[in-house]
Amino acid sequence: MTKTMAEHISVMLNESVDMLVTDVNGLYVDGTFGRGGHTRLVLEKLNKGRLLGFDKDPVAIRHGKSLEQEDTRFTIVQDSFANMAEHISAVFGVNKVDGVMMDLGFLLPRLMMLSVVLAS
Ligand SMILES: C[S@@+](CC[C@H](N)C(=O)[O-])C[C@H]1O[C@@H](n2cnc3c(N)ncnc32)[C@H](O)[C@@H]1O
Repeated sequence: MTKTMAEHISVMLNESVDMLVTDVNGLYVDGTFGRGGHTRLVLEKLNKGRLLGFDKDPVAIRHGKSLEQEDTRFTIVQDSFANMAEHISAVFGVNKVDGVMMDLGFLLPRLMMLSVVLAS
């Protein structure tokens, strides 16, 4: 697939997801959903497992809501990952999960937008 300049490329995608998913029926958290690159690969690897995604950015949440419609094992929440404990209890009904991932890098579409604003 050809990538456009503003399309986000998930970093260490296979490496991080391979390390994260140890139980295909487990419960997982993506603390920084972004455009869902890591989340989608986690969902591919899961069987009956479930994944809870977080992001604060409304554009990321739009992408997450769309993925929620496609895959009932996935839930997106618009909140900081700092508050994940309360959402894990509310969504999964338990207080521990099998793995949490956080991609604390930059989101390429956001960087592109910033560079346009700074150049204008
Ligand atoms: C590098 S991107 C993640 C990209 C994602 N892994 C992917 O493959 O598409 C980082 C994301 O973290 C989000 N973010 C930053 N601080 C956050 C926080 N405190 N809680 C939740 N999300 C946060 C940003 O809005 C951004 O969408």
